[in-house]
Amino acid sequence: MEQPEMKKLAAERAVQFVEDGMIVGLGTGSTAEFAIRKLGAMVKGGLHIQAIPTSQKSKKLAGEFEIPLIELDDTVEIDVTIDGADEVDSNLNLIKGGGGALTREKIVAYHTKKLIIVVDETKIVKRLGADFPVPVEVTKFAWAATKKTLIDLGCTAELRTIMDEKFITDNGNYIINCDFGPISQPEVLEKDINAIPGVVENGLFINLADLVIVGSRQGLMTLDQQITGSD
Ligand code: A5P
Repeated sequence: MEQPEMKKLAAERAVQFVEDGMIVGLGTGSTAEFAIRKLGAMVKGGLHIQAIPTSQKSKKLAGEFEIPLIELDDTVEIDVTIDGADEVDSNLNLIKGGGGALTREKIVAYHTKKLIIVVDETKIVKRLGADFPVPVEVTKFAWAATKKTLIDLGCTAELRTIMDEKFITDNGNYIINCDFGPISQPEVLEKDINAIPGVVENGLFINLADLVIVGSRQGLMTLDQQITGSD
């Protein structure tokens, strides 16, 4: 089975947790897109949901499928969010933000009752940071000074670019990719990064995921807090 098929398998399993009347968070990235497309088909078939996208890209896709969208305001509690990840460890902690949507993704995740992460088997790691840098969203103002302070935390850091242009997030900020190597205390690092002035948010998602659905060559696997939380 190829990687896109594994992603699709996981995403379409996750969509089965969505029930009529729910408020649903829509993640960002190629795996979350499979979930949005499936939800779109279900909405066409009569499912009633209201959705909150985590990026302009997901908003556009949801719009194409006529999925009703709402704002995340102070009256809303999201029932379930389906999102992808770049790395997942055995405690269900994550690195996210490969697509640059980490800030909105973390806000939506925080306000969600059940966060379901959908990945293919290549995303499962022993330690976060082994293969993927931690994306950090920073203000444009003084970004190079912020980068220097991030390096002082013990990483190599690079401003994210796309086709030689600086990558700009949906919030109008930059992203600095911070390579810490394998991270021994991700919960400490998440707080340390966010304590730096100029940092908007970082891609370490600690204790947010409730369920991880993994598409693998052998089929579907699930990891949940009850099984792995005490590791
Ligand atoms: C978007 O900002 C990310 O957090 C994605 O969810 C993550 O990069 C996974 O993307 P894929 O599903 O495309 O691998």
